[in-house]
Amino acid sequence: MRISFQNQLLARNDVLLKPMEDKNQHLKDRRAQIHVGGGKDRIEKHHAQGKLTARERLALLLDEGSFNEIGAFVEHRSTAFDLDKQRFPGDGVITGFGNIHGRLVYVYSQDFTVLGGSLSETHAAKICRIMDLALKNGAPIIGLNDSGGARIQEGVVSLSGYSEIFFRNTRASGVVPQISLIMGPCAGGAVYSPALTDFVFMVEDTSYMFVTGPNVVKTVTHEEVTSEDLGGAKTHAERSGVNHFVAGNDVECLKNARALLTYLPQNAYEEAPKTAVFEFSKAKIEAIKTILPSNSGLPYDCRRVIDSLVDDASFKEVQEDYAKNIVVGFARLEGRTIGVVSNQPAELAGVLDINASRKGARFVRFCDSFNIPLLILEDVPGFLPGTDQEWNGIISHGAKLIYAFAEATVPRITVITRKAYGGAYCVMNSKSLGADLSYAWPTAEIAVMGAKGAAEIIFRREINAATDPSQKWIEKEAEYADTFANPYRAAERGIVDDVILPEETRQKLVLGFKMLEKKAENLPLKKHGNIPL
Ligand code: HXC
Repeated sequence: MRISFQNQLLARNDVLLKPMEDKNQHLKDRRAQIHVGGGKDRIEKHHAQGKLTARERLALLLDEGSFNEIGAFVEHRSTAFDLDKQRFPGDGVITGFGNIHGRLVYVYSQDFTVLGGSLSETHAAKICRIMDLALKNGAPIIGLNDSGGARIQEGVVSLSGYSEIFFRNTRASGVVPQISLIMGPCAGGAVYSPALTDFVFMVEDTSYMFVTGPNVVKTVTHEEVTSEDLGGAKTHAERSGVNHFVAGNDVECLKNARALLTYLPQNAYEEAPKTAVFEFSKAKIEAIKTILPSNSGLPYDCRRVIDSLVDDASFKEVQEDYAKNIVVGFARLEGRTIGVVSNQPAELAGVLDINASRKGARFVRFCDSFNIPLLILEDVPGFLPGTDQEWNGIISHGAKLIYAFAEATVPRITVITRKAYGGAYCVMNSKSLGADLSYAWPTAEIAVMGAKGAAEIIFRREINAATDPSQKWIEKEAEYADTFANPYRAAERGIVDDVILPEETRQKLVLGFKMLEKKAENLPLKKHGNIPL
């Protein structure tokens, strides 16, 4: 029997034009497949290590229901070493955008269950697309890193993918905040993208970062070292300063990253968010009067001074365990973000050394890039002497801190609480280095050097000629201290703007930063400066 042409067409349409419900179901099935990444077994193994999956992490990082995925269907195109038999939609990285506290962010989250989260050509392209969007739209980029590094089967194209990312990290630097969360292995070239970003978080026990792993180290230098000791969270927090924040587990790490974002603007052209309400307990005005010990040679914790000046519980310290002789972090003053840089008399008497200079300079430059005003609390006896410091370049490293302050155009207020001696006085955002306001407490000592050393040099002949040289030395030391171990010589010259009581300080800062709110200062036109790296 012959079928009419019309019936033939109808029969064909039944096959080709599946009902819409079927197509929708097909999409849902594909999505479900995408959501299991490398498969249930690998996810179980991943969970057993105490790690959340790439998607679980994004769900916790972002405001509920705000994640929009881009590129979920992207697959690699490689065929070498049977890679064509291992195609996973998404190719080991989940990319997209969402909100944190209602503000737009761009995110990528590497999926270790897919080929070890290794970076292929397409995996890199997905990350680059997100970075390009972030730069064009002026919003932070947050990378959740959990990867075995370059996809070994792909060879040079995966290396080239890394370079594409590094290029974008560099171009985005100082334009949008870039934050890296290291939540698994991070080896080889994979460490350099996080290193180019502004803040690196690490998770204790499950994350590590190194350029070459323990096996290569053993072969080349014959050192035996575990992954944890070589590049674990503690190592990078205390020894190298590569990371800025350490968390006990994935959940804490994601929570901390959300908290950091509350201090930061979306990009270099916007102001940091201002909280509508803030608290400041009046008791702190009393407490600040007694923080400094009566003997100026004794230590105290500068974090107590910071806490007494800023909004309650608003101080978020950065690189807490590295170069503890300088304390840096974000805080709020009447709801507005400020960056705080303070010498720490409780650690090495607060001297400046190589690590403290590097830590301080990088933080100052971040704040300056992103319009965050700076408060500098100064109590510094000088630079740390010694061959170790000199041979490792304290001259160049100390110069970084000078450069960072002198280059900064954001409002800068210095409060000298106690010691401000020698070169370290100049470095710590001194008035002549461009501080907008410079205050000193009555306890301030502003001089070229400590009275003891000064007396020995300038009164040596007189001391040696005296019948009782040690008594003479004490007298001369007291004379020098009377002259210079106070804030008034500097105030008479206008090198400090005012001498203020500790309990007056918060109000002075509030008014000072308000007065400087519209500060506009431009650097001389140039391609870029040449900071002593
Ligand atoms: C392809 C990789 C991979 C990689 C891991 N996998 N790393 N696949 N390329 N780089 C795969 C594994 O084959 C395995 O697949 C799965 O991911 C899980 O890996 P395991 O080894 O089973 O996991 P684990 O025991 O937890 O060890 C994790 C690891 C280890 C320590 C990261 O996988 C490892 O050492 N990987 C290689 C690290 C490395 O040398 N990368 C290259 C760096 S060089 P199956 O199918 O078995 O589940 C580099 C240069 C970039 O990155 C330079 C740019 C400038």
